[in-house]
Amino acid sequence: MSNQTPSSTSHKALLKWVEKMVTLCEPESIHWCDGSQQEADSLFSMMVEKNTCIKLNEAKRPNSYLFRSDPRDVARVESKTFICSQNKDGAGPTNNWEDPREMRRKLKQLFNGCMHGRTMYVIPFSMGPVGGPISKIGVEITDSPYVVVNMRIMTRIGTPVLDVLGTDGFFVPCLHSVGCPLEEGDVDVPWPCNPEDTHIVHFPEERTIVSYGSGYGGNALLGKKCLALRIASTLARDEGWMAEHMLILGVEEPDGTKTYVTAAFPSACGKTNFAMVIPPKEMEGYKVTCVGDDIAWIKPGPDGCLYAINPEAGFFGVAPGTSFDTNPSAMTSCSKDTIFTNVALTDDGDVWWEGMTKETPAHLIDWKGNDWTPESDTPSAHPNSRFTAPAANCPVIDPDWEKPEGVRIHAMVFGGRRMSDVPLVSQAFNWGHGVYLGATTGSEMTAAAEGTLGKVRRDPMAMLPFCGYHMGDYFRHWIKMQRNLAETPRIFNVNWFRKDDEGKFLWPGFSDNMRPLRWIVERATGRAGAKETPIGWMPRYSDIDWRGLDMSEEDFEKLMHIDRERLRMQTLTHEELFLKLHEHLPKEMIFQREMLISRL
Ligand code: GTP
Ligand code: SPV
Ligand code: MN
Repeated sequence: MSNQTPSSTSHKALLKWVEKMVTLCEPESIHWCDGSQQEADSLFSMMVEKNTCIKLNEAKRPNSYLFRSDPRDVARVESKTFICSQNKDGAGPTNNWEDPREMRRKLKQLFNGCMHGRTMYVIPFSMGPVGGPISKIGVEITDSPYVVVNMRIMTRIGTPVLDVLGTDGFFVPCLHSVGCPLEEGDVDVPWPCNPEDTHIVHFPEERTIVSYGSGYGGNALLGKKCLALRIASTLARDEGWMAEHMLILGVEEPDGTKTYVTAAFPSACGKTNFAMVIPPKEMEGYKVTCVGDDIAWIKPGPDGCLYAINPEAGFFGVAPGTSFDTNPSAMTSCSKDTIFTNVALTDDGDVWWEGMTKETPAHLIDWKGNDWTPESDTPSAHPNSRFTAPAANCPVIDPDWEKPEGVRIHAMVFGGRRMSDVPLVSQAFNWGHGVYLGATTGSEMTAAAEGTLGKVRRDPMAMLPFCGYHMGDYFRHWIKMQRNLAETPRIFNVNWFRKDDEGKFLWPGFSDNMRPLRWIVERATGRAGAKETPIGWMPRYSDIDWRGLDMSEEDFEKLMHIDRERLRMQTLTHEELFLKLHEHLPKEMIFQREMLISRL
């Protein structure tokens, strides 16, 4: 199935770029993706034939496939991700930087002939609804058919995108290779030969992306973290909008009032879960709808309010822990038309992962392709195994999730994993204070990561791995946004993860997160009560809807308690990041810290 002639485009710059990349990479053939179902079907058949993936039981998991990646290629690699701005200062101290000319030389060597024996796929894609006023177009060149079928779910791809691009439209060139040229007789797999050579590189001034040596998720699906966050954050800075690592949800109240909220939590801290939260049944008449679960592009509208779109079209969600108890909407989303990566295979051709069901199957094939039983001492699914599911499959997808101009945002929430100090929910006094709250967001490191267990790592706005420029300038951009707005969304802080002295969660989480969410929505629209505290506005016991949850006032006080002395000490840890950013740190951040200390 080759589609060599790009009859559907006469975009000179695009054709020239593709031609240049063909000369560099020397693929055996070229395929321009039209995005059709037939195209996807034939790619899947080809991959099934080559044992690259397994078709799952059609009766149990229609139109779905399981991939097992190279065991060395299972997650994003922050240490090999670069922002190659002209000056080191442009990338700032929180990003890896290398001289762009030096990096180009390196990449040219790596890409030279890297697609021997393989097909080069050209994927035109739109982040955001095709042709929408906030949307952006990218074109990914890749030698991985796995990337093509994933991009088809995660973004809008194919001919309609070329139509909008026209003869001279703006696009972000995204070059990707797994870096595994084929010799006669080699097995064609979409995984790298040498993961040590991995380079995920962004050229922010040129708005281009080059990724080599990884086939996995955020490293290879270049529309997601590379374009929609790292490059988009620089576009947003220059054009006066925001690209954020945020979910977008809508809250519908019993009287039909609808309010949209965004929330930024670091990776694996609950965005997908919160984006699809099912209210407790006692809170009758409340409904939460999902616009997006990972990325928000937010822009001032003609009325001076902020509007957000989800630039993606699918969910690349963490599988382990996802169950009909914790997130039924995510389970339904991946009940068909889904690509699974690194989960376990059941004997009847379905998938399984830790936490999916109460009973563990007696026998599985694990994510490495080996026999597995409950006695095995490794998990059957990789802890970062994921499902790629179309957002349209989500039973609580918002009716306006594809509205090109976005939905109006009334509240923005920051959060992280904090076992002490940070209360369940609080509201910033104003925009500047809210930016300070976001900038100083921290999350505890888990046993899986390097560093001291429980040590708080600063992850400003959950953007530490995803900001395409100097973090200090990014804070300044947040501050500046207010000047173009008639009304700013209200800013909140939440923490679902506070524990008691015995290490037990003080808050049940999941469904019950609807209770603070109701307060957030009512505060943001001027309807709920609160009390003033040194760290912001906080709900009193009587301000929260407790129907269906047995939470005493005393327990609530524990959950909301603030220890002035400990908080004063915590502000010292903000200093670590602030010192690193020194010259670029907006003075508003210093003022906010001074005011916080004096309030404490
Ligand atoms: P990325 O896709 O990596 O950006 O992650 P995410 O922010 O979408 O994280 P996700 O929703 O997949 O949640 C990850 C982990 O947080 C899972 O282990 C969940 O069980 C856990 N989690 C989510 N919500 C809650 C909660 O309210 N309380 C508790 N205790 N755990 C939660
Ligand atoms: C994250 O790590 O925040 C993700 C997964 O959402 S990936 O797309 O691989 O970055
Ligand atoms: Mn994410």
